[in-house]
Amino acid sequence: MELLPIFLDIKGKSCLIVGGGATAARKAGNLQRAGAAITLVSPHLCESLARQAEAGAFRHLQRPFAPADITGNTLIIAATDDPEVNRQIARLAGERQIPVNVVDDPDACTFLLPSIVDRAPVTIAVSSGKTSPVLARMLRTRLEALIPAGYGRLADLAGRYRERVKARFGEPRDRRRFWDRVLQGAVAERILAGQFAEAEAVIERELAPDALESDMGEVYLVGAGPGDPDLMTFRALRLMQQADVVVYDRLVAEPILKMTRRDARRIYVGKERNHHAMRQEEINRLLADLAKDGHRVLRLKGGDPFIFGRGGEEIDTLAAEGVPFQVIPGITAASGCAAYAGIPLTHRDYAQSVTFVTGHLKDGTINLNWPALAQPNQTVVFYMGLVGLPIIVERLIAHGVAPEMPIALIQQGTTHLQRVYSGTLSTILDVVASDPPQPPTLVIVGEVVTLREKLNWFSPPDEPVEGATTVIV
Ligand SMILES: C[S@@+](CC[C@H](N)C(=O)[O-])C[C@H]1O[C@@H](n2cnc3c(N)ncnc32)[C@H](O)[C@@H]1O
Repeated sequence: MELLPIFLDIKGKSCLIVGGGATAARKAGNLQRAGAAITLVSPHLCESLARQAEAGAFRHLQRPFAPADITGNTLIIAATDDPEVNRQIARLAGERQIPVNVVDDPDACTFLLPSIVDRAPVTIAVSSGKTSPVLARMLRTRLEALIPAGYGRLADLAGRYRERVKARFGEPRDRRRFWDRVLQGAVAERILAGQFAEAEAVIERELAPDALESDMGEVYLVGAGPGDPDLMTFRALRLMQQADVVVYDRLVAEPILKMTRRDARRIYVGKERNHHAMRQEEINRLLADLAKDGHRVLRLKGGDPFIFGRGGEEIDTLAAEGVPFQVIPGITAASGCAAYAGIPLTHRDYAQSVTFVTGHLKDGTINLNWPALAQPNQTVVFYMGLVGLPIIVERLIAHGVAPEMPIALIQQGTTHLQRVYSGTLSTILDVVASDPPQPPTLVIVGEVVTLREKLNWFSPPDEPVEGATTVIV
C-alpha cells in the first residue's frame, strides 16, 4: 500500500485553503461537508466561492498568501495557480508537520484527497495513489451506481440500535451474527426499499427476548429485461447477489443467470409453450415455502414481471400468507426489442398511442378487441404472437387495416441472436415462411416500423455478451 487511508475528524478544526478558483471551491466543499472551520486566503474568488463567502461559509482573507497563515491549522490545501507559491506553502507546512495537499503536484503532497462516495454516515474513499485521479473518479462513479443511497439510513439505524444490541447479546459472536442478519437481510432490504417503519418493526422483533434465531425469508420478484444483461436495474443486480435460491424460467438469458450468486441454488420452473416444468400454482407454492424456510428467493422473470409475466399471481399467494416480497421492474420486451430494432413505439407523425396485447392462441383463436386494434395512428405490440401470426394478419385486415400496413417481427431482441423480419401485413407470412423466426419473438404493427430504415443502430455482436454488467462478488 503506497498510502495509508484514514478518516480524519476535522469538525470545528481550523483548516487553511490558499486559492480562490474552481479547484479550491471543490476542496472547500469537501472540507465544509466534514465540518471544518475554513480560512480561505485569496485576492480573488470564483463565482461559487464568492457566493459562499457572502453566506459566511468560511472566513475569507482577501489578499495573497503570507507565511504566517500557516500557523494553527490541522490541515492545509494549496490551490493557487502559481506552482512556486504552492511549493512554498508545502515547505512551510512540512516544517511544522501539518498535512498539506498541493493541487496538481502529487510529489509536494503529504496527503491526497480521495474521490468520495458519500452515503453519510458511510463514506467510501477511492484513491489511485499518486497515479491517476481520473481513474479514481471513474471508479467512484461505478461505486456510486452500485451502492444504493439507502446505505446511509442503514448505518444510521445500526448506530441507533448499537447499545441495545450490545445489552441484548453479551457474546461478541452472537452480536456479529445478529448484525449479519440485520445488515444483509430483511431489515436492510426494507431500508433500501424506503420502508423505514417496517425495518424498525423487524429489528424490534428480532431483539425481543423470545425471538427465534432465523427470520422469515423474502421473495424478490425481479424483471431481468429482454436479454441484454446491461439492461437490468441496479437494484435487480444487487438482489441477484443476495439471494440464496434462484427460481427462473425459460426467458431468462444465460449471461443474466450467471450474474446470480455462484453458490445460490437454482430451480428451473420452465414455461416453454405447452411444456411447463412446473404449473403456476406449484411455482406460487414453492416461492412461499422457500421464503418461510428463511431463504432469500430471487424469482427471476424475463422482461417485466407485471407485463404478461404472471407476477401478480405469484405475489398474490405471498401477500395472502404474509411472506415479505419486493417487485423490481424490468425492461419489457416491447421497449427493449423496439429500441434495439430502431422502431420508436410512438411518434408524433405516425402513432399517438401504443397498445400491448397477448397474441397467445386459445382454442385455435386469439380473443382480442380487433376493432380497437384496427384503429389508425397507433402501434400494436403482440407478445406471444409468433404461432398465431397468420390469425393476427387475417384479423387485422378483416377489421379494416390496410394490407400495406408495416409489420416487424423481432426474434430474441437485444441479444446476439436478434433478428428483425419486416414487411407488410400482406407480405410478412411469405417473408417468414422460408426461414421461420425462433421464439421468443415480438410482433410490432404500425407505421412506426418504417422508421427502422433510418433509425436502426444495433448490430448484434457475434457472441453473447457475458458480464456486460459488473458483478459484485
Ligand atoms: C410470457 S411473455 C413475457 C413477457 C415479459 N414479462 C416482458 O415483460 O417482456 C413472453 C413473450 O414476450 C416476448 N419476448 C420476451 N422477450 C423477448 C425478446 N428478447 N425478444 C423478442 N420477444 C420477446 C415474446 O413475444 C414472448 O413470446
